Amino acid sequence: MDQDAQKRSAAEAALAYIEPRLTSDTIVGVGTGSTTNFFIDALAGIQHKFDACVSSSEASTERLKGHGIQVLDLNSVDRVEVYVDGADEVNPARQLIKGAGGALTREKIVAASAEEFVCIVDQSKIVDVLGAFPLPVEVIPMARGLVARVLVELGGSPEWRHGYTTDNGNIILDVHGLTITDPAHLESTINDLAGVVTNGIFAAQAADLVLVATPTGVERF
Ligand code: 5RP
Repeated sequence: MDQDAQKRSAAEAALAYIEPRLTSDTIVGVGTGSTTNFFIDALAGIQHKFDACVSSSEASTERLKGHGIQVLDLNSVDRVEVYVDGADEVNPARQLIKGAGGALTREKIVAASAEEFVCIVDQSKIVDVLGAFPLPVEVIPMARGLVARVLVELGGSPEWRHGYTTDNGNIILDVHGLTITDPAHLESTINDLAGVVTNGIFAAQAADLVLVATPTGVERF
């Protein structure tokens, strides 16, 4: 089974997991990325079973609307039943690195709003220690140099994602060379820097359930 087939099977497992809980009032939170795209496409087939979605990016909003699924502003909903999203790395504590697609801030906001965060990945995303994947940090443009210098002091090698602007109008620094043994501490340390919007460590906001697709089936932890 290739990587795309694994992503699709993780997405289908998430659909099977949430489907029994859907009612005509349910709001589903939707992440961003290629694995989530498989989830969006599968969700389209059962759109009569829930009310609407809230989305973590303009790209996902466009895909959802393309399927005829209603997308609501997060501020207009009281309760998000479940949030489904992919990740770039997942450790055994269900802590994540996210943001390769640049949507980390809105992803963290929707994840924080949801009753449950279901993370869907293929097995290549599973690691013992976070950090081999460069850590995305969303930064207010004028603070790029300031934040980059502090990230170097923290032991990383930040690289500006040239030519990329987030949905919020900011830039991304991808930080290489980190070995993240205390994800919660580093998440909070980086988020405290002036000019940082958020970073892609999801430790305060870890997944509640990880569905990981392998060549022999979907496992959960
Ligand atoms: C986007 C993300 C994605 O969830 C993450 O990059 C995984 O993407 P993919 O499913 O394409 O591998 O955090 O900001």
